[in-house]
Amino acid sequence: MYAQMIKTARSGLKSHAEMSDQERDFQDRIDRDIKIEPRDWMPDDYRATLIRQIGQHAHSEVVGQLPEGNWITRAPTLERKAILLAKVQDEAGHGLYLYAAAETLGVSRDELIGLLHEGRMKYSSIFNYPTLNWADIGAVGWLVDGAAIINQVALQRTSYGPYSRAMVRICKEESFHARQGYHAIMKMAFGTPQQKKMAQNAIDRLWFPALMMFGPSDAESVHSEQSMAWKIKIKSNDELRQQFVDQTVPQIEYLGLDLPDPGIKWNDTTGHHDFTDPDWQEFFDVLKGNGPCNTDRMRDRVKAWENGKWVRDGLMAHASKKATSQAAAE
Ligand SMILES: [Fe+2]
Ligand SMILES: [Fe+2]
Repeated sequence: MYAQMIKTARSGLKSHAEMSDQERDFQDRIDRDIKIEPRDWMPDDYRATLIRQIGQHAHSEVVGQLPEGNWITRAPTLERKAILLAKVQDEAGHGLYLYAAAETLGVSRDELIGLLHEGRMKYSSIFNYPTLNWADIGAVGWLVDGAAIINQVALQRTSYGPYSRAMVRICKEESFHARQGYHAIMKMAFGTPQQKKMAQNAIDRLWFPALMMFGPSDAESVHSEQSMAWKIKIKSNDELRQQFVDQTVPQIEYLGLDLPDPGIKWNDTTGHHDFTDPDWQEFFDVLKGNGPCNTDRMRDRVKAWENGKWVRDGLMAHASKKATSQAAAE
C-alpha cells in the first residue's frame, strides 16, 4: 500500500488559507522547530515524502557497501583493511537506523527492501559507478562520504524526530569515513609517481558523479518548495553542491592534484567558487538503470537478501517459540 502512496505523494504547496486547522497546527509546530514524532498527526503527503526519502537514504547506505566491500580483501595493509572493514560495517548500521526510522512511519523494512529489489525505489546513483583501483577507496571516502556529510549535517535539523536523531549518530561516523578517505588519498598523492597517477585517475572519474549526488538544480521544483516548508529538506540542492565545491577546492590544492574541471575558479562577487555543472543527461541515464554497475549492484543485493533468509527464518522461529513459552507460563 505504501508503494502507491510513495508514488502519488502530491507536491503542491498549500497556502495558509487552504490548510485545515489540523494542517495549520502541524505547520505551526514545524515553524517553531518542534519535532514531529511517530504518533503525532501528519499530512499523508508528509508521511509519503518522508518514507520515500528515508527509504532511498537507507537503500543508499546498504547498496553503498558494495563498491567498497569489494576491496576489503585487497586492502594494501592490515591497518587499511581494518579501517575499511569498520567503515563498511558502519554503513550497514546506517541502513539499519534509517530502515528503523522509516518503520516508525508505518512501512515495514521488508516492504521497502522488496521495492528496492523490484526497481521501484531508488538509491544514490553514485554507487552505480565502479571502484577500479585502490585510490578509488580513498576518493570514495573523501568525496562521496564528504558529499553525504554535507547533506546529512543539514538533515540533523529535519522536522521528523526519528530521522533527525538517526542523522546525529550517522554524522559522527561519517566524519571518520571522510577523514580515512582523505588520509588514504593523501598517502597516494604524496607517494610514488605511480600512486599519484592512480589518485588523480580516481578523482577524475569520481568528481562529477560526486557533484550529481546533490541532485539536479531544484530552483524550479515545486516539490522541493513543499519539502522545505515541512523541513524535510533544509537546504536546496544547489546550496549544498556549492558548499561541497567550496570545501573541496582547498583540499585538492593541498594534495597537489587537480579536479577535472578547468572551469573552477574563485568568484569575488559571489564569494564562492564557479564550477562546471555535471552532465545531467548522464545522471538521468544512470538513474534509469544504464550506469556501469546498476545490474551488478541489484544482483548482489538480491543474492545477499536470499542468502540471509535462513538467518531471518531462524530469528523468527526463535521469537515465536519464546512468545509461545511466555504465553504458556502466564
Ligand atoms: Fe553512511
Ligand atoms: Fe559513510
